[in-house]
Amino acid sequence: MWINNILNKNRKILALSPMADMTDSPFCQIVREISGPDVVIFREMVSSEAIVRNSAKTLKMTEFNPKERPIVQQIFGADPLTMAKAAEIVMKHSNPEGIDINMGCPVYKITSNFNGCALMKDADLAGKIIKEMKQAIGDTTLSVKIRLGWNDPDEFKKFIPVIAKAGADLITIHGRTKEQGYGGTSDWKRIGEAKKIVDIPILANGDIHEPEQVSEALAITGADGVMIARGALGNPWFFKLAENFSRHPERSIAESKDPLLAISLEERKRIVLKHAKLHTEYYDLRGITTFRKHLAWYFKTNKIGENLPNLKEWRGRLVRVNSLGELEELLNEI
Ligand SMILES: Cc1cc2nc3c(=O)[nH]c(=O)nc-3n(C[C@H](O)[C@H](O)[C@H](O)COP(=O)(O)O)c2cc1C
Repeated sequence: MWINNILNKNRKILALSPMADMTDSPFCQIVREISGPDVVIFREMVSSEAIVRNSAKTLKMTEFNPKERPIVQQIFGADPLTMAKAAEIVMKHSNPEGIDINMGCPVYKITSNFNGCALMKDADLAGKIIKEMKQAIGDTTLSVKIRLGWNDPDEFKKFIPVIAKAGADLITIHGRTKEQGYGGTSDWKRIGEAKKIVDIPILANGDIHEPEQVSEALAITGADGVMIARGALGNPWFFKLAENFSRHPERSIAESKDPLLAISLEERKRIVLKHAKLHTEYYDLRGITTFRKHLAWYFKTNKIGENLPNLKEWRGRLVRVNSLGELEELLNEI
């Protein structure tokens, strides 16, 4: 079980959050290459309905390069039997280390079908989904990702005992309600309350944007680990830096030129190009257009980590590249 493999070593779990259109195989391979074997990678959500309909496109989304392991595949849906069947199919098709259930997505397209965070309004149904899925996947780890609640930030207090009793092996909590969307801040103190309610491992999620914040989030929440989403976009070094920083908390990443804590422009460019190559191999050559979203993240002011002159102009040109060759030339110019 991937959870015990980490916690039994007295270590905290560092996880890459599932992100639709972002945590695909190429990005996950890059994170794995930089971070080493310990980070747990959660792949973007896939629809249980599409899986059981045998959608080739959706099944492909669950495939991964063996280098990406340990991998957890997230599934969304609301019908217990369909969710169980989908989990079984994913296990047969791709055999990840774990399956995660999306009970936190706030997007209308998802919640209007009672998927994602809508399930937090019906703990009994959520429990049924978990029980059926557990039966379908046996010993494979089953985790659940939730928010604090639909509109009440204390809703999780009633919800998590039900899902823990149903058999969830781990719960990740994004410290916002559905109604908050991405407004306000993730309430790490409330996430900490979850630890007193259930005795299964908890991951803290939300607003851990900088590697230096990992230890602070762990201290405030008392969680068993953290799950990082936007902090890792354009910054696949996040986990490595967080580990280095936890060993050297006296140093500052922002101002440092220390190679343990600062990523040089040359290294950034090398990884951007490598990521772009993996992306275009995976999606075909037109994939460069869908890679532009990653370029925008890599060259955000707060990600680049140094005062690169004319950054805005470079970014403007980068997000218009039309080929891998054009990207390579532009990166050489920077
Ligand atoms: C582009 C994007 C896509 C996301 N897709 C998913 C998803 O597929 N499943 C999920 O549970 N959460 C998804 N999320 C939510 C994140 O996993 C995470 O819970 C949220 O962004 C808060 O964490 P952060 O502050 O570290 O970004 C997504 C977030 C972003 C920004």
